[in-house]
Amino acid sequence: MFKRYHFTENARIITLKVPGPQSKKLLRKQEKYESKNRSYPRLIPIAFDKARGATVTDEDGNTFLDFFSGCGVFNLGHNNPDILKKLGFFEDNIIQAVDFPTKTKINFMEKLFSVLPKKMRGNYKINFGGPTGSDAVEAAIKLARIKTGKNVILSFQGSYHGMTTGALSVTSKLFHRNPAPPLIPGIHFMPYCSPYRCPMGTNESGKCKFECINYFQNSLENPHSGIDKPAALILEPIQGEGGTYIPKDGWVEKIVSIARKNHILVIFDEIQTGFYRTGKLFAFEHTDAIPDIITMSKGIGGIGFPLSLILYKKELDIWKPGTHIGTFRGNQIAMRAGILAIKMVKDLKIEAHVKKIGKLMKDKLKELQNEFNFIGEVRSEGMIFGVEYVKNRQSKEPSEEIAKKILRQCYENGLIVELGGYYNNVIRFLPPLIITRSMALNGLVIFKKANENIKNKISA
Ligand SMILES: Cc1ncc(COP(=O)(O)O)c(C=O)c1O
Repeated sequence: MFKRYHFTENARIITLKVPGPQSKKLLRKQEKYESKNRSYPRLIPIAFDKARGATVTDEDGNTFLDFFSGCGVFNLGHNNPDILKKLGFFEDNIIQAVDFPTKTKINFMEKLFSVLPKKMRGNYKINFGGPTGSDAVEAAIKLARIKTGKNVILSFQGSYHGMTTGALSVTSKLFHRNPAPPLIPGIHFMPYCSPYRCPMGTNESGKCKFECINYFQNSLENPHSGIDKPAALILEPIQGEGGTYIPKDGWVEKIVSIARKNHILVIFDEIQTGFYRTGKLFAFEHTDAIPDIITMSKGIGGIGFPLSLILYKKELDIWKPGTHIGTFRGNQIAMRAGILAIKMVKDLKIEAHVKKIGKLMKDKLKELQNEFNFIGEVRSEGMIFGVEYVKNRQSKEPSEEIAKKILRQCYENGLIVELGGYYNNVIRFLPPLIITRSMALNGLVIFKKANENIKNKISA
């Protein structure tokens, strides 16, 4: 059913080496003109040309399977023709309406409200922000501070929430934080439930008694905790850039229940895990927890148009007009694409497809885990995957080196993947949700070969 959305169902490398000569030429020009801040093309040195679905071609005519999706944006694939055609030619329509009402905007909001989890329907409002996820995080923090009159925000170790100063302040990675001090004050990082690398040292499965929850509760309720009463906590229900860490069953609910008891607002950052990435609109729908504020971006713009927003409980709607503004918060193309994307997810039963292909891929990846001693753990929910690389399974010592070699072997053979993780040692897949069964299997053949090659090199 989904085959027609892609150029082809397999990769095809026609140059002797990747990058080929044309890619190299553009990379050299980029080096000359563009900031040193560039990051992805250092890791994956390719100049892309065209894209369709989960396939991209480069300037040399190589075809790649794209399990990266522009950082988890193209949930319905690149240039999805159904959406593109129906978007139509905009002609005299308004393209950017700041925050004036348009039929498109009202339709978009009604469409999004109609697919919210039942428990949320009728209880939430929307605020549109600047077009990036980071701006949604800024808005969420600001609203929580205004509502509570408090300053402190709790975040979690391993989190990624963006690069603007507020969003960076609640992001834990020191590499990003260190060049830009001082960040906003009043942020504390709590341990996240990442069972493979349990911050409380309980790494053996079955031994965990939610010691991190005790720590969290103590931080809030012990009068000597040293932490002033927080306004809110911000949490990724599944950590994305941190390495696809998935908390144990019940952990998210426990955090939320302790937050409620202590009158702390709960912000769930669903920028990466939202828009059906895990097989449901939001990742938190795999738990019983309900947040006060949700951040959304990435997939919500349909096919990569920039759009970001927060959803929040109606009783929080107390900020004064113009408290959080921005020029580009009325992108009509993105909203129209968002409406079409939600409709397409429902019409084509994409949630069920994500579940099915997600399970197939997870099972295959688990087989690889048994085969390769340097794969420490495989984690996934729907179509967000993490494969954690270690020197060996016994020591669990993280191996950024192996992960980077695997990533390179992958792109050289036609598979684009992402690198993340606490120690930069996790290969991450965020494929378009519309990949076919064959594409999933073909991608994993390339991935397996990459692991075999590295294993052979290590043992040589
Ligand atoms: C969970 C999460 N929050 C926030 C952001 C920041 O979004 P943006 O890069 O659009 O500012 C990201 C980006 O990867 C993310 O994954």
